[in-house]
Amino acid sequence: MQNNTNIRLYIGENLKIADSLPSTNEYIKEEIAKSTPFEAGTVILAKEQTKGRGQRNNSWNSPKNENLTFSYILYPTFLSPLSQFYLTVSVSLALVKFLKQYIPDVFIKWPNDIMAGNKKICGILIENTIRGNKIKHSIVGIGLNVNQTLFENSLKQATSIKAYLNSKQNFELLKLAKKLFGFLSEEYYTLQTKNPHDLLAAYNKHLFRKNEEKPYIIDNKSFNASIIAVKEDGLLRLKIGEHIYKYASKEVKYVF
Ligand code: BTN
Repeated sequence: MQNNTNIRLYIGENLKIADSLPSTNEYIKEEIAKSTPFEAGTVILAKEQTKGRGQRNNSWNSPKNENLTFSYILYPTFLSPLSQFYLTVSVSLALVKFLKQYIPDVFIKWPNDIMAGNKKICGILIENTIRGNKIKHSIVGIGLNVNQTLFENSLKQATSIKAYLNSKQNFELLKLAKKLFGFLSEEYYTLQTKNPHDLLAAYNKHLFRKNEEKPYIIDNKSFNASIIAVKEDGLLRLKIGEHIYKYASKEVKYVF
């Protein structure tokens, strides 16, 4: 039923496009709960989501037909739950490499927002299901802003490929999605075949605000701190004064 062993997996080889869904991540979850068989790499892309989900119980709003919103399923049984952060690393790197074709200053805002300059251009929501000491399946959801040029006031820090480039032309969504699937497939292959520490080094190389003293809120207090690195555990090493502390993503808020 599930294709666990196919290392050279082409993400998006099975592609289902829906006109409107509440959320592509939820759709895959519900289908799995009904035991619908899903081949690894199957992509569900929605032209519109009516209840798009973001990290930390936030919503993800994206106007119909303007951006890419899709999810896919993986069975990364080769990764132990302790190494699950590497999946985030691999997806983030694929997005950075893909976006660098259009935008030179692309960064990863730990743990998994993709930034164009100082603005968020893409969000990633990875939901892993762990059974015993194995990751049973992972649902990777990606919201990439492509042609949107108007953003709600609350999204001052958001942009899209078109908005960032100040382009008059719209990008063809499906063409872009298929190129992106190639990058996601390539990085997933790398994750299975190469030293994951190299991937983490590349992730760290693209880290947003690395070694820059900037304001953060931790425990409701404001600090100036500089990001040192992210380690295998997925925790951020932040230098405050002369000391280095480690934090989980819920604990740190970036101040812009
Ligand atoms: C975030 O930055 O908060 C993560 C956003 C993830 C949004 C994508 S859009 C496709 C998939 N379906 C969802 O409901 N969410 C993810």
